[in-house]
Amino acid sequence: MPEIRVEIGERKRSYPILIEKGIKEEIGRLLTARYQGDKILLVTDKNVRAYYAEVIEELLRKAGYEVVIYTLPAGEQAKSFKYLHKGYDLLLEKGFNRDNLIMALGGGVVGDLAGFLAATFMRGISFVQIPTTLLAQVDSSVGGKTAINHPKGKNLIGAFYQPELVVIDPDFLQTLPLRELKTGIAEVIKYGLIADRDFAIYLKEHKEAIFNLETEALLHLITRSCAIKAEIVREDEKEKGVRALLNFGHTIGHAIEAVTGYQVYNHGEAVAIGMIGAGRLSCKLGFLTREDLEILGDIVRLYGLPFSCRYGEDVEGLFQTLFYDKKVRENKLRWILLERLGHAFIKSDIDNQLVREILEGLV
Ligand code: NAD
Ligand code: GLY
Repeated sequence: MPEIRVEIGERKRSYPILIEKGIKEEIGRLLTARYQGDKILLVTDKNVRAYYAEVIEELLRKAGYEVVIYTLPAGEQAKSFKYLHKGYDLLLEKGFNRDNLIMALGGGVVGDLAGFLAATFMRGISFVQIPTTLLAQVDSSVGGKTAINHPKGKNLIGAFYQPELVVIDPDFLQTLPLRELKTGIAEVIKYGLIADRDFAIYLKEHKEAIFNLETEALLHLITRSCAIKAEIVREDEKEKGVRALLNFGHTIGHAIEAVTGYQVYNHGEAVAIGMIGAGRLSCKLGFLTREDLEILGDIVRLYGLPFSCRYGEDVEGLFQTLFYDKKVRENKLRWILLERLGHAFIKSDIDNQLVREILEGLV
């Protein structure tokens, strides 16, 4: 079974990511080997509950655990104070203590909310991730970023809090809507572009297998993505340096999500447009070659991700929104650019006029 270790600071906080077809059936055994407590809060959302929560609950009960299910509404609205608070209420009402465990079964929304709940309940209790979207399997379940949203912006209230185990079963993806699959693919493309040219080329050549959800292709996609992320997080857990590379495409992407009110583009679609923008910027500055920029565009196009953004003519509005990013320091944007395909770097001193020109080409 592919196993990747996320090495964090002291060994005590390191954890495995287990990736295997059908591994969800093993969840009872995997947990009893690691968790001696009696209760589990299983956090999920309405859609995932209908497909999978009862099966997982049954497996956990058979393994001897008392399971309390906390079902969130589906979608970004669940990452709120309201549902965090309801989570604390439920934990207290059901008598959970510091020796108990919270398990996230769902996409990034469930993982982020459940993770923050785990980070803060009684100053931190054990946390396990079972991601069910591609985005969660390749990105959000790994690396310990947890958060809820504030009315002023996404992910503004949160903590770095690592899970103790991540269990990834590609079978979950069989029920995932195509648009959600594509949003995860955008993040997978990102890994190829920033860290592994061969992986980017693999994506260019295996679209059919990936869209057909062939096991071998999915396992390769997930394993390579998690390995790249684990390596970056090992070097820089708290995003003081190299972890920022994972934000390739996200500076413009986040601004696009914000100016369109989070209603038009989902995260992966906005990041795809952002990657096109950051790629063009890299090329204009003389780093990325035209040929490599074309490969980047080909991959984005191949997976049916958008190239440009339907957002009127207000380039200035979009430009100003770039500065709401959490990564802005002293009013300077920190761009993640490509030196070449498979190699990203950080650059701050970029002429605003050039950035405006790039944005004009995207809207
Ligand atoms: P999501 O959690 O909203 O899931 C997308 C949709 O798919 C939901 O409607 C969900 O109910 C449904 N779904 C989930 N699994 C399913 C399955 N197997 N079959 C059928 N339907 C299923 O969205 P997401 O894209 O997984 O995550 C987005 C969130 O992740 C955002 O809030 C973003 O901020 C966060 N995120 C966090 C990190 C991190 O490092 N913590 C990284 C990237 C994104
Ligand atoms: N998704 C970006 C990160 O985890 O740092």
